[in-house]
Amino acid sequence: RKALGREVVPHTTRLPPPRVSSCCSVLRRPWSVRPQAQLRCYSSAAVCSSPIPEITSKFPEITSYDELYKFSVNQPDAFWGALGEQLLQWQRPFSTVTQHDLSTSTFSWFHDGTLNAAVNCVDRHAEHHPDRVALIWEKDEPGTEQRITYRELQSEVEKVAGVLQQCGVKKGDRVAIYLPVSPIAVATMLACARIGAVHSVVFAGFSASALASRIRDAGAKVVVTADSSKRGGRVIELQKVTREAVALCQDIEYVLVAQHSGAPLQLGHKELDLQQAMASITGSAPPSEQGGEDPLFLLYTSGSTGQPKGLVHTTAGYLLYTAITHRLVFDYQPGDVFGCVADIGWITGHSYVVYGPLMNGATTVLFESSPIYPDPGRYWETVQRLRITQFYGAPTALRLLLRYGDEFVKKYDRSSLRVLGSVGEPINPEAWRWYHEVVGDRRCTVVDTWWQSETGGIMLSPRPSAPDAPVKEAHPMRPMLGMTPLLCDAEGHQLHDVEASGALCIAGVWPGIARTIHGDHKRYQDTYFSPYPGFYFSGDGAMRDSEGNYHITGRMDDVINVTGHRLGTAEVEDVMMEHVDVSETAVVGCPHPVKGETVFAFVVLKEQVSSSIEDISKQLRADVKKHIASYAVPEFLLVTRGLPKTRSGKVMRRLLRQIAKGDHDDLGDISTLADPSVVSDILDKFLKMK
Ligand code: WT7
Repeated sequence: RKALGREVVPHTTRLPPPRVSSCCSVLRRPWSVRPQAQLRCYSSAAVCSSPIPEITSKFPEITSYDELYKFSVNQPDAFWGALGEQLLQWQRPFSTVTQHDLSTSTFSWFHDGTLNAAVNCVDRHAEHHPDRVALIWEKDEPGTEQRITYRELQSEVEKVAGVLQQCGVKKGDRVAIYLPVSPIAVATMLACARIGAVHSVVFAGFSASALASRIRDAGAKVVVTADSSKRGGRVIELQKVTREAVALCQDIEYVLVAQHSGAPLQLGHKELDLQQAMASITGSAPPSEQGGEDPLFLLYTSGSTGQPKGLVHTTAGYLLYTAITHRLVFDYQPGDVFGCVADIGWITGHSYVVYGPLMNGATTVLFESSPIYPDPGRYWETVQRLRITQFYGAPTALRLLLRYGDEFVKKYDRSSLRVLGSVGEPINPEAWRWYHEVVGDRRCTVVDTWWQSETGGIMLSPRPSAPDAPVKEAHPMRPMLGMTPLLCDAEGHQLHDVEASGALCIAGVWPGIARTIHGDHKRYQDTYFSPYPGFYFSGDGAMRDSEGNYHITGRMDDVINVTGHRLGTAEVEDVMMEHVDVSETAVVGCPHPVKGETVFAFVVLKEQVSSSIEDISKQLRADVKKHIASYAVPEFLLVTRGLPKTRSGKVMRRLLRQIAKGDHDDLGDISTLADPSVVSDILDKFLKMK
């Protein structure tokens, strides 16, 4: 072999290249200019600047990571085209890599090629490695895990696909999925993909009315659920919640119920036993031939208005982007056991529990339990038992666990781990260091990964993008291949100084971006492309240091992040406004040591009210739980005489955020308020409340 990274990979190879070495000492050579010893490395070299043989075999002039990055952004057609040819299995090859029109915010990738996502994620691996484990289902009780091979997964997918077809589901139809993290959930997602239906997974912690509004917005006719699930020893009545939701959705024709609890199913109106129906399926219809741009799934996420947005992700670009990011950011190698503990109800679960790992033919863990069940050692006990090689979780869980001390970590063998990933919210240095020093024994590479439901996959991450730089704690650092982050000031001008702070935008397009908001392309344009013309606007603020490393400072809109869950403050306000006694509300996020942020609600009541302030507060909290989910319930609820407003009637949220934070010393100029006296009323009540 002349130089690594130049190995010729035949075009017919569909799987990622075989593991060459577990360490960078070999792989590093052509990519690294500095020897390891000189680096002030926080992390070991477990994750290296993995070369991409699919690219370097075709473009041998690329010999460094820098060159590879430049190539990826300057020649997106060549870069993504080569990857698209080799990482995806096509029914009909594509001839056009990408087309985009910023004026209408329309983007397409590989639109004239045809393929099937389930074939790419399952069938091709089942053909070559039928007995390889695809899923390890880590159920609520430790030690009861189940392994599902690619062959078994394929058969499950075909059966669920058959049942969906019997229910009349056709290409393009939407199917709602309200299931816990489980093999049947993965099989149902892929069954939709197999027949060309579009899945919409709704997080199983959402309430009946949140589920109903998502079913209605998507226009789903079938919903798939389970009788119940168990998390942290607690039973979650999914079938009951689904019944309540379906009562609010006239168009639902079938409810497929999977038996999850072990008890016999009790079936009601429109409900069918999913497993029983699967047992009667014999044979399977050929997978649907999907266009590269056909929708793969809808995923609802919070924005700055009360109505969640149904982001539309399409087939080829999304699959390619999740596959390559999964491989490069986590240094995925065949034989690894990939442990992302996210719920499939969120984008992290879609991209790094299901699609990315399965695209790469990996073994992926489905974690159905809780980080503190039966005790705060659960994650690390699972790592030891399953020999997990990459662990991917949220800062909120780390902040919770570090409070229980190091013993719960140290008593388990974590020597299988190589990479520790963090996602979903800013990670504070204390949690980052604990992750690195205690969990990873200073041996594993910690990757803080920044991305969003909208981006489909990881956008900023210290690896593979900064191969020679030490990992800077609590920084996602640098862009993935093919993407160009930038910062803009309040006037919309791009900031060209290296050291800068502003709105985090992205120039150019990448294959994983959500293509539209279901039924509302205008909202898509207005939200992401109008604020900073020519660029995608993330909604986040960021800082860039003198070395070009990014650090995320948080949302710039009215979206908050509670225990890693994205929540629109307007969603909570809308629910509270429905209460007969409420005249006005304003909800803000307030920093919280474990949750990241917590919900702080300011409420103005009408002159005449029906009951006491205590009762109304209780009712409001119950309403939020009923209409959204438990995590959205205001931890603090302050009833006040009025809200601070400008003379033009705009609520000054900055002021409320400051008050909620307890940061009263300098409230800035409040003389422009229509009625400055409301501020002292609020402060008064706030101090009494604490
Ligand atoms: C928002 C996206 C990314 C998948 C899970 C959340 C915040 C995400 C980070 C990070 C700081 C982060 C941002 C972003 N966020 N990752 N590494 N550092 N903030 O997806 O629900 O669409 O939320 O989560 O504010 O905009 P999401």
